[in-house]
Amino acid sequence: MFSEEPSGLVAVTGATGALGSRVAARLAERGVPMALVARDPSRLPALAGAEHRGPAGYGDAAAMRSALEGARTLFLVSGGLSPRRFEEHACAIDAAVACGVRYIVYVSLVGAAEDATFAHSRDHWQTEQYLAASPVRWTVLRPSIYASMLTARADEQGVIRGPAGDGRFAAVDHDDIADVAAEVLAPGPSSPRDVDAAILEITGPEAVTMGEAAEQLTRATGRHYVYEPESVEDAIAWRSRTDDPHEVERWVSWFQAIAKGEFGSLTDVVPAFTGHRALTIAESVARRQAQG
Ligand SMILES: NC(=O)c1ccc[n+]([C@@H]2O[C@H](COP(=O)([O-])OP(=O)(O)OC[C@H]3O[C@@H](n4cnc5c(N)ncnc54)[C@H](OP(=O)(O)O)[C@@H]3O)[C@@H](O)[C@H]2O)c1
Repeated sequence: MFSEEPSGLVAVTGATGALGSRVAARLAERGVPMALVARDPSRLPALAGAEHRGPAGYGDAAAMRSALEGARTLFLVSGGLSPRRFEEHACAIDAAVACGVRYIVYVSLVGAAEDATFAHSRDHWQTEQYLAASPVRWTVLRPSIYASMLTARADEQGVIRGPAGDGRFAAVDHDDIADVAAEVLAPGPSSPRDVDAAILEITGPEAVTMGEAAEQLTRATGRHYVYEPESVEDAIAWRSRTDDPHEVERWVSWFQAIAKGEFGSLTDVVPAFTGHRALTIAESVARRQAQG
């Protein structure tokens, strides 16, 4: 917690998506006044105390400045995959600074680094650096791999094929990330902690191999999932038959980053900030299934 709280209007981006919507709902429950900023405001959720702002994409400086007017805090969800993703994030940060925002919480990714194997981890690292050099207070949230995205890595037969080797990762549930984000943005009186210039790695409760993850997916869904390790060369060869070079690089480097341990962080940030334990992959996937 800061010695001098940046109270006031909280601008929340990404609230048409899975993470931002969860964070916005939690802040609404806490009575936090919000400006929900979107490219298509008609898709924003109706929440108590929340204004709808936009249309504003991160790369549109004028639209972002207009959307962030009056905000004192910005929750900045990283944007979709784009070759200009860092520039778009930088544009959103500049707009926030110009509007008098005092505190930015950016959602990055575990393993963000200048020389990261996964290309988008490098975008995140650049954004983190840009934010740290800006005149505002900041906190970086680095979630691990989303547990919800693992089934999408499987083919129709439930086979997850890729060069992940025996690398471990501690996939995390969206609700757990949102619970931590809400504690950072609107800390309760019982959870004072210093998040100024902090990088919080938000992970699940255990670091598993892709084979162990596939077993958990099978248990949670009743559908058979299996991991078949392959070489980098084989992965590039079969992905290149259907995908463009950027998508091939994205797919293969994600698995390679796992193999190299770049997504391997395992932390107690979820229990430390929320008071509850983090969901396993099986629990997370079962929860999503139950929600339909
Ligand atoms: N940790 C991981 O494993 C992992 C996996 C996938 C993605 N991610 C990153 O985490 C972010 C949030 O995850 P999520 O599950 O909430 O994703 P999501 O459901 O796809 O939501 C993404 C949100 O960001 C908004 N957005 C994307 N690009 C934008 C831009 N250029 N300008 C303004 N808004 C933009 C989207 O708005 P629209 O509704 O207008 O599209 C949407 O509200 C993703 O955007 C991505 O950067 C992380």
